[in-house]
Amino acid sequence: MASRLLLLALLAAACCGSIASDPSLLQDFCVADKMSKVNVNGFTCKDAEAVTVEDFVLSGLHIAGNTTNKQGSAVTAANVAQIPGLNTMGISMVRIDYAPKGLNPPHIHPRATEVLTVLEGSLYVGFVTSIPGSKLFSKVLRKGDVFVFPKALVHFQFNYGTDKAVAIAALSSQNPGVITVANAVFGSTPLISDDIVSKAFQVDKKTVDWIQAQFN
Ligand SMILES: *[C@@H]1O[C@H](CO)[C@@H](O)[C@H](O)[C@H]1NC(C)=O
Repeated sequence: MASRLLLLALLAAACCGSIASDPSLLQDFCVADKMSKVNVNGFTCKDAEAVTVEDFVLSGLHIAGNTTNKQGSAVTAANVAQIPGLNTMGISMVRIDYAPKGLNPPHIHPRATEVLTVLEGSLYVGFVTSIPGSKLFSKVLRKGDVFVFPKALVHFQFNYGTDKAVAIAALSSQNPGVITVANAVFGSTPLISDDIVSKAFQVDKKTVDWIQAQFN
């Protein structure tokens, strides 16, 4: 009886180990064919004979993004949209620039864990857990520090200093995706009804309408 239970437990463990990243490679590469009309999970592969080294290159990540915006931050992406050779590789990068007091506002990457390193300046960063519920893990990072934002958790970076800051991050998806919490909740198209948002946030509808107006 006990051995039967053990066998069942082993089978359960073997059958359904969760997949925690983009699907693994079945070939050297599968350079994205952006012209293909076939819809698959990711992009179809360009003919391997037509692949060139340029499919694996992106230049310009040394150039600062334009932080003249409401948040005072700019994300420069290096994912499969910019580098076709990243298709099926399960990895990508971003450069993030922060003006003094610049914020990369609370957001989620639905498909990727992120590992960030500070190249210049310092940042106050954090993420919020699902289990235990809504616990904030936060830290001040200085140049050279590395920090992990677990997949799909709400996280942010804030440059509290008086100098600009720069970070580079790697993400465990060719196409991590980003959902900015404030934009999703207050700035969707069409808007989520203020009845719903006002109940969710426990504030009056006027306050919700005012916040929603900031996103137009
Ligand atoms: C940066 O963005 C601002 C606001 O959109 C714009 O006015 C400015 O010309 C941009 N600066 C550069 C160097 O592109």
